[in-house]
Amino acid sequence: MKLLVCGGAGFIGSNFVRIRTRDHGDEVVVLDKLTYAGRRENLEDLDVRLIVGGIEDPDAVAEAAEGAGAIVNFAAETHVDRSISEPEAFITTHGMGTYVLLEEARRRGLRYVQVSTDEVYGSIEEGSFTEQSPLNPSSPYSASKAGADLLVASYRHTYGLEALICRGSNNYGPYQYPEKLIPLMVLNALHDDKLPVYGDGRQVRNWIYVEDFARGIGTVLERGEPGEVYNVGGPDEAPNLDVVRKIIEYTGKDESLIEYVTDRPGHDRRYSLASDKVCGLGWEAQVRFAEGLERTVDWYRENTAWWEPIRSGEYRAYYERQYGRALG
Ligand code: NAD
Ligand code: TYD
Repeated sequence: MKLLVCGGAGFIGSNFVRIRTRDHGDEVVVLDKLTYAGRRENLEDLDVRLIVGGIEDPDAVAEAAEGAGAIVNFAAETHVDRSISEPEAFITTHGMGTYVLLEEARRRGLRYVQVSTDEVYGSIEEGSFTEQSPLNPSSPYSASKAGADLLVASYRHTYGLEALICRGSNNYGPYQYPEKLIPLMVLNALHDDKLPVYGDGRQVRNWIYVEDFARGIGTVLERGEPGEVYNVGGPDEAPNLDVVRKIIEYTGKDESLIEYVTDRPGHDRRYSLASDKVCGLGWEAQVRFAEGLERTVDWYRENTAWWEPIRSGEYRAYYERQYGRALG
């Protein structure tokens, strides 16, 4: 298959591209703006063409889509905390960017997969969200992602575009930018920096190993029904404090590193996805959380060359703004 992968230099996108080129022999063009989260290094072991540009730029999108059979869109601003302090880029990329991609897919008659998130459903105290659950997003991140999903659905409904939506739960694994809970806690623990737990730390997330999610998107791309939404959730849920305690154990550190800090405004209490529909296409999660987390800690321990430039660059300033303290 010839694929245009937007946002393919980021965390999940680069894992997806690695699996598709190595295991499926796909030919891939990546279109990526290389924001702070997009990194050339994530693709350097792979035989792909990288075009640097925004999905909101019709010329860049037209060039990148030349010869493609399908578009898979990962491109997004992805950090809830940044969406609270600086929402503008979220609206541009998820709104205008998704629109420009949909227009290109429509012009060329391409299959289109939108990578979305469980956060569009909002928070759930008990049970799990199905694809029929109403959208009830809480943050500028999830609201703009929900807006993008609705636009994708409208292109199916109105123009008959071969469009599908894949909603994942919280991903973790190699190449994740350390602003997110798991890599942040791993790198802080390795440096003996404090581990900032928001609020009471009892918020629950449904964790999926990134390669499982990437394979789920591949399943939807190959076998999904146009017009349908597919939830792709992980096999395990855990409160944040349990996750942090496991990281402390795997890094051989002490619980005294934990520091309770001011909660995130509008913080969703729990996410949980029912994934029966995508399982019906033959997908299942392969990596349980305990195993995947240990693998992830090992990856960060062994790949200092990947994270050292991040931890000494833009991320330091971001960390000070967000947490009101410097990294050690
Ligand atoms: P990420 O922040 O690591 O990567 C995002 C990528 O998009 C980066 O390479 C960035 O440079 C690129 N990008 C941003 N704006 C762009 C633009 N305007 N044009 C072109 N490229 C642009 O994010 P991720 O965690 O890999 O998430 C990928 C997708 O998966 C997102 O759509 C996200 O909403 C979704 N998702 C993420 C998670 C998660 O836990 N991380 C869970 C479910 C769904
Ligand atoms: P995050 O990785 O930002 O993902 P999301 O908000 O999209 O689920 O956060 C995961 C959980 O961890 C969430 O409940 C917020 C919490 N969290 C902390 O307690 N401390 C932190 O420093 C971060 C980044 C997150």
